Amino acid sequence: MKKIAVLTSGGDAPGMNAAIRAVVRTGIANGWEVFGVRNGYEGLIDGKIIPLGAREVGGILQRGGTVLGSARSQEFKTRPGQLKAFRNLNRFDIESLVVIGGNGSQTGAHALHLLGFPVVGVASTIDNDLYGSDITIGVDTALNIALEAIDRLKITASSHQRAFLVEVMGRNCGYLAMMAAIAGGAEEMVLPELEVDPERIAATLTEAYERGKAHAIVVVAEGAKYNATRLDEYFKQHRERLGFDLRVTILGHVQRGGSPQAYDRILASRLGAGATDALARGEYGVLVGMLNSAIKTTPLEEVVNKPKKLDESLIELAKKLD
Ligand code: F6P
Repeated sequence: MKKIAVLTSGGDAPGMNAAIRAVVRTGIANGWEVFGVRNGYEGLIDGKIIPLGAREVGGILQRGGTVLGSARSQEFKTRPGQLKAFRNLNRFDIESLVVIGGNGSQTGAHALHLLGFPVVGVASTIDNDLYGSDITIGVDTALNIALEAIDRLKITASSHQRAFLVEVMGRNCGYLAMMAAIAGGAEEMVLPELEVDPERIAATLTEAYERGKAHAIVVVAEGAKYNATRLDEYFKQHRERLGFDLRVTILGHVQRGGSPQAYDRILASRLGAGATDALARGEYGVLVGMLNSAIKTTPLEEVVNKPKKLDESLIELAKKLD
């Protein structure tokens, strides 16, 4: 009987549990034995590998986070760490591994692939910065959490005629910020991918008041050259000249903690099942993602080497709608 293992790694993303459940249940349906690895690559290094049955993954579909635990393993970035993990997989007679995670996690999966271990990745990160998947597990839920916050901030902003900076996660990628700006009706967005001029942002906010707007929201990506803290400092320094007061909200990890919405549960179920399909075909060293609304595989070699770009038409749309 074939033995496979599954792990979640890097930042947790809402929907990871649905992906674990799909890997376990479709693996069992294929007649395989399925194992879970605790705390990502750390668990591989420490040999924390446990059997997972269909019932063990019951009741987790609707839960945020990851029941397997996750980690950002520094040791696995080293050759000795990777070799320890490789040896443990062999010690437990695991024949192939599914890695659910984002960029760093798929870089780790690629390293195992290069060592000759059969591995398949599943695209999961709230940042949506992974080449090989138009959308990744967790993005939609994180976006909805950001939107709920923005909608609430607009209410208090309107009452006081204030401007708000709302910082969202995304590491070096502006996807979450751009989509939150479009869906949240922000006056301005600040992305790592775009030039930032604090004076232009100030002009946009002033103009918003002149146009009679009761509130002004700027969505800022955490990875932008001027993140919310730096912008706030700039506006404070120039407060008298610019003439308005700002309030800052940094959403941070709140965005990762939600119960996965329908879209993420379905996406995760499809990608998890796509991973065991790839293993059944003997297709290894690939990422399973969603491309043009279909489940597709992309070589990990490309995934870890190619950047994912923002859709220019969405940037233009956000600019037109402010
Ligand atoms: O990659 C997901 C993410 O939430 C990023 O948006 C953020 O920059 C980072 O993880 C935060 O990492 P940590 O949870 O390790 O603080």
